[in-house]
Amino acid sequence: MNENLSNRDGASTSLWMATTDAPVFAPLSADAHARVVVVGAGIAGLTTAWRLVRAGVDVVVVEEHDLHGGQTARTTGHLCDALDDRYYDLEYLHGEHGARLAAHSHGVAVDTIEHICQQERIECGFRRCDGFLVRGAGKTGDVDELDREFEAARRAGLQVERVASPPGAMRRFGPALRFPKQARFHALEYTAGLARAIAQLGGRIHTQSRVVGIDGGSNAGATLENGARVQAEQVVVATNVPFNDRLAIHTKQAAYRTYVVALRLDPGSVPDALLWDTLDPYHYVRIAHARNGTWLLVGGEDRKTGQDDAPLIHYEVLESWAREHFPMALDVGYRWSGQVLEPIDGLGFLGHNPGFADNVYVATGDSGNGLTHGTIAGLIVADLIVDGESPWRALYAPNRRTLRAADNYLKENLNFVPYYGEWVSAGDIEGLDLLQAGEGAVLRRGLHKIAAFRDDGGELHLHTATCPHLGCVVHFNEAERSWDCPCHGSRFDARDGSRLNGPATHGLAAVDVPAPSPETARAPPSVRM
Ligand SMILES: Cc1cc2nc3c(=O)[nH]c(=O)nc-3n(C[C@H](O)[C@H](O)[C@H](O)COP(=O)(O)OP(=O)(O)OC[C@H]3O[C@@H](n4cnc5c(N)ncnc54)[C@H](O)[C@@H]3O)c2cc1C
Ligand code: FES
Repeated sequence: MNENLSNRDGASTSLWMATTDAPVFAPLSADAHARVVVVGAGIAGLTTAWRLVRAGVDVVVVEEHDLHGGQTARTTGHLCDALDDRYYDLEYLHGEHGARLAAHSHGVAVDTIEHICQQERIECGFRRCDGFLVRGAGKTGDVDELDREFEAARRAGLQVERVASPPGAMRRFGPALRFPKQARFHALEYTAGLARAIAQLGGRIHTQSRVVGIDGGSNAGATLENGARVQAEQVVVATNVPFNDRLAIHTKQAAYRTYVVALRLDPGSVPDALLWDTLDPYHYVRIAHARNGTWLLVGGEDRKTGQDDAPLIHYEVLESWAREHFPMALDVGYRWSGQVLEPIDGLGFLGHNPGFADNVYVATGDSGNGLTHGTIAGLIVADLIVDGESPWRALYAPNRRTLRAADNYLKENLNFVPYYGEWVSAGDIEGLDLLQAGEGAVLRRGLHKIAAFRDDGGELHLHTATCPHLGCVVHFNEAERSWDCPCHGSRFDARDGSRLNGPATHGLAAVDVPAPSPETARAPPSVRM
């Protein structure tokens, strides 16, 4: 494990985190000035910064954690224009022209990553390969989903063919759609290379530099937690989940946890291809070559953040699925989870930040294709800043209203309504003595709910269970040892309460809980900020 990579999103470690040497950058401790300040150093922020410095623009990137503290560290690294949302859905939502633009933009994103690898000599194992969409087990129906997708993908301009099966050890999946010229890479070797290139080209990157305020207009810039300020002409919020928007954009996307297991493989035993199925939630598969061997990555089991009581089970389910379909797979080396933001109409929100002046930009709504969405964000935002226009501006406009997505909007926003009432219900446990090492539970004390976690050493960590975003009660995530909010996906470290994912702008406050006696059971706990 590279000591430079802190597990800032939770307790698990991805294959990429374990096999990357991340460049180290100094925190920003004094005021600075740049033409553009980019907040967040995931693939979206770094691609934007790279495009800008290549165009001669003076850029400062500020990142809350070390490099690789976000979701890019937790990806599986499929690079596709064959999107995980069906093209027939995108066509319904955005029209035939919109679906064609979406296909084109994701293809350009994969080409851009390939081009950057060549231009900056980034050794990240980028390689073109076939992608196969297969039918999920037990899925039948009058109209075959593969046929519908075949027709829609062709109308969207993709090269696609029907095949009897994928090759080699993937044959057992049967009839498939083959999408040529997809790709895979080592995600963190790529972003580490991007960061080095930005620095060599004169861009300034600062890690351990948390931004707490964004301003647009004539006094644009970003204010850090330590008081330092980056004054800039343009601000790009590439924090995956925007922290500067309280609600509007968060009603148009929903946070899901997704799970991955990496099983060791003998090289060559499984074809170097991408594969995903038509189930919901679906499985996604690829081979990864890292410096410690060859791995079969199997992902899926997506669940809405904070609404899943037994997340560790998903690793077991994925492992048994992997062993059933790939009996040659060896031991499990890594298990990790991460967060994806599902936009209600299938496409990211990339461009001008609604509710802010025109010189503030946002990249969010990454979906399961967030690596290409993040790259498209870099292309759109840099074009808007340098040229004032992008061919994809309207398609990805964050303020768009997709009328045909109204059903999805209602489904996602009604889904968490019951959770708003949880603060009046009983707690998960009656007393702290019931909590074992490694366990977390919500406890009621009088009018308050307490998020209680006992670490492996037996020490108790107590925080308010009320999410600072809009007040839902957080739920314990045993896979990542975090407190996850079921309403809009904010997440918090179970030990120190610090914020892992927005939209909450700060962490859970620590509390002291008096011993549960008849008197104290009704008394509210004192809250330490
Ligand atoms: C398990 C999993 C598998 C996936 N597989 C694929 C795949 O195969 N293909 C694909 O295309 N996509 C995939 N995705 C999605 C994709 O990995 C992500 O969408 C993408 O990496 C997100 O990039 P980003 O730059 O938007 O966000 P991040 O990588 O999260 O970067 C945002 C950065 O902003 C920083 N930040 C946050 N708040 C602040 C602040 N206040 N101040 C300063 N910095 C801040 C964070 O620390 C973080 O480093 C997967 C995701 C997961 C979780
Ligand atoms: S994330 Fe919105 S209430 Fe918690």
